[in-house]
Amino acid sequence: MTPPELAQAVVEDPAAGSFRVSRRVFVDPAVLEAEREAVFARCWLYLAHASELPAPGAFITREVAGRPLLVNRARDGTLQAFFNACSHRGAPVCREARGQRRAFRCPYHGWTYDDRGTLVHVPLADAMADHLLDGGALDLRAVPHLQAHRDFVFVHFDPAAVAPLRDYLGGAAEVLNLIADQSEHGLEVIPGAHHYSVPANWKLLLENSADGYHGAVTHSTYGDYLRARDGALPAAADGLAFDLGQGHSYTTSWGATPWGRPVARWVPGFGAAARPELEATLRGLVERLGEDRARTVALADRNLLIFPNLVVNDIMAITVRTFWPLRHDQMEVSAWGLAPRGQSDAARARTTRNFVEFLGPAGFATPDDVEMLALCQQGYRATGGDGFNDLSRGMRRSAPLQTDEAQMRAFWRQWQHMVAALRPAAPPAGTRTAAHGAEGRP
Ligand code: FES
Ligand code: FE
Repeated sequence: MTPPELAQAVVEDPAAGSFRVSRRVFVDPAVLEAEREAVFARCWLYLAHASELPAPGAFITREVAGRPLLVNRARDGTLQAFFNACSHRGAPVCREARGQRRAFRCPYHGWTYDDRGTLVHVPLADAMADHLLDGGALDLRAVPHLQAHRDFVFVHFDPAAVAPLRDYLGGAAEVLNLIADQSEHGLEVIPGAHHYSVPANWKLLLENSADGYHGAVTHSTYGDYLRARDGALPAAADGLAFDLGQGHSYTTSWGATPWGRPVARWVPGFGAAARPELEATLRGLVERLGEDRARTVALADRNLLIFPNLVVNDIMAITVRTFWPLRHDQMEVSAWGLAPRGQSDAARARTTRNFVEFLGPAGFATPDDVEMLALCQQGYRATGGDGFNDLSRGMRRSAPLQTDEAQMRAFWRQWQHMVAALRPAAPPAGTRTAAHGAEGRP
């Protein structure tokens, strides 16, 4: 797609109650190139949860938007993110997923960096000019911006001044607060991670992750399982969807979803012995947060989409999910479970079971969702990418439901806004394009 075509990929007609997205945005490799520049290079992107780096010296390695990063907690407790590439000839200076270390030694020639990224050792250094080694020019390069909100840590790759993370999150920050408020001691990542790949365009997973319309059809086996376990289920609640601005959105439903919430919403499947503990947790939340907020935190489900590629599902468990396109038709997904710090062993077991049971890679949801996204990608090939997806559900409702598509429309409007801002790059000074004249002529 050319920039003018990209600028018209999303077609909204409020009078007709119609919202359509060109299927070319899922099948054209040129669109992904535009997204790398217009979206991923210009947004705050989720990096990690602070609990993954609990103490000075802790480190993790992770890719964000295709860039290998080294993240650590320095000796003074600050979180830092470096590009994981040696200043000498580029090899990653750390190849382990996580650990505890005060220095990082490049595996190629042995250049060594301390916990602040300072180059502290070069083998056979006498062949190097002193000013090269002493000026800091060969230290590890730090990621330009790193900020956190309630332990959710984000990076921004644009070296220019950017809006603070809190401003970027806008209304999404308050939804993160509702999630983090589950525990007065904060949340922590349950050890381990899920990494999987999906043969589909990355934007399809964003749409899917807060799509209340597909659950009863795609995940009908989960309903069958819950009925077999817990008996008759409550009627599904009519949840609502909210556009939080800047491409972020969330859906929420109150109480009557058929699964339990390990924080404090009991269902028979948790077992009778668990009930007093959940009721005590709810009383504690009411004491700390007040009745209304406590009930919202503990009893309501929510699915939060943070533009462009972060999902936090706070439903029968809390999962943090981020994804990155390897190609226009393939993405890599990473997901982690979050749980309140200081849970009892029994509560942690319920939390973990609820997490893997639905959201794990072999759970009731994830394989089904992966298959549906792959099928959509397959379907786009039928017409060579011609045609449009329809996302019009609830366009005429003043308060859209979670089974509508307002949450997806929020994403697409921001996506359209950002890719439409792309302009063909001007030729560097002193050069010219072919359109300026034939070679050798003024
Ligand atoms: Fe790292 Fe040479 S590439 S020491
Ligand atoms: Fe699903």
